Amino acid sequence: MKIAIIGAGNMGGAIARGLCKGTVVKPEEICVSNPSAGKLDALKADYPALNVTTDNRQAASEADLVVLAVKPWLIRDVIREVAPKPRQILVSVAAGISFAQLEEYAGCAEMSMFRLIPNTAISLLQSTTLLASHHATKEQEQLMLHIFNEMGLAVLLPEEKMAAATAMTSCGIAYALKYVQAVMQAGVELGIYPKDGMKMVAQSMKGAAELILQNDTHPAVEIDKVCTPGGLTVKGINTLEAEGFTNALIQAVKNSCR
Ligand SMILES: NC(=O)c1ccc[n+]([C@@H]2O[C@H](COP(=O)([O-])OP(=O)(O)OC[C@H]3O[C@@H](n4cnc5c(N)ncnc54)[C@H](OP(=O)(O)O)[C@@H]3O)[C@@H](O)[C@H]2O)c1
Repeated sequence: MKIAIIGAGNMGGAIARGLCKGTVVKPEEICVSNPSAGKLDALKADYPALNVTTDNRQAASEADLVVLAVKPWLIRDVIREVAPKPRQILVSVAAGISFAQLEEYAGCAEMSMFRLIPNTAISLLQSTTLLASHHATKEQEQLMLHIFNEMGLAVLLPEEKMAAATAMTSCGIAYALKYVQAVMQAGVELGIYPKDGMKMVAQSMKGAAELILQNDTHPAVEIDKVCTPGGLTVKGINTLEAEGFTNALIQAVKNSCR
């Protein structure tokens, strides 16, 4: 299967790297296009078999799957430029661009389309990748889930749930990093050097995530295990609540969803 990735920025580059590390497609089956050469050179240096070009049409012409990884305001012009064919699957990474808009720009009503929202951890095969499908067959949906499950966890959702899930998972990665940064800052005040603190806190966060993912437990169950009555952790947990931690995150997710 041949894949074209249009745009080699944060997302396009991360998807290309993730695909190259996976087993579903080979680097030589991937072609990445970008107007400037620097990002393409960096990709080529990491994966010499990967194809790169500054010509979007050339990248898309032979592809079975065309991934649009440009900024949302460029999507219309880029779709018109590459003129996707009905035999191709069109995949848009652009946040906030609906299937109705994609269909209008492509001028092709029955085309198989996916909206795809990974997060930046896709380059490490650790993304939560949200997928919504439009006029796609069950086989095409399974293929997309297969490709992106190799890069973490892929979840197929109705289009109307994409905005909420994007706020939770794609914006959410920044919230998680903000937690790491804040705890590092506390550590500095308590005498822990940032470079040491960063690894410690990141591993704690990874461990917390693994407890939930591997045990399939609710976070409250894992929190309860740490909160000995009269102990130190519950004092910190109660401080978080008193300072509005839960409410701040709820408001952050809701604002990122608007
Ligand atoms: N970053 C995230 O966490 C995230 C998460 C989910 C979805 N998204 C979506 O992903 C898309 C890309 O975001 P990004 O963060 O990857 O942006 P980005 O880093 O700015 O990358 C966009 C890339 O598109 C290239 N480009 C500009 N005009 C182009 C054209 N006409 N044809 C082909 N490529 C062109 C740019 O090249 P030059 O720099 O050389 O101009 C740049 O490399 C957006 O639609 C965004 O909504 C991002």
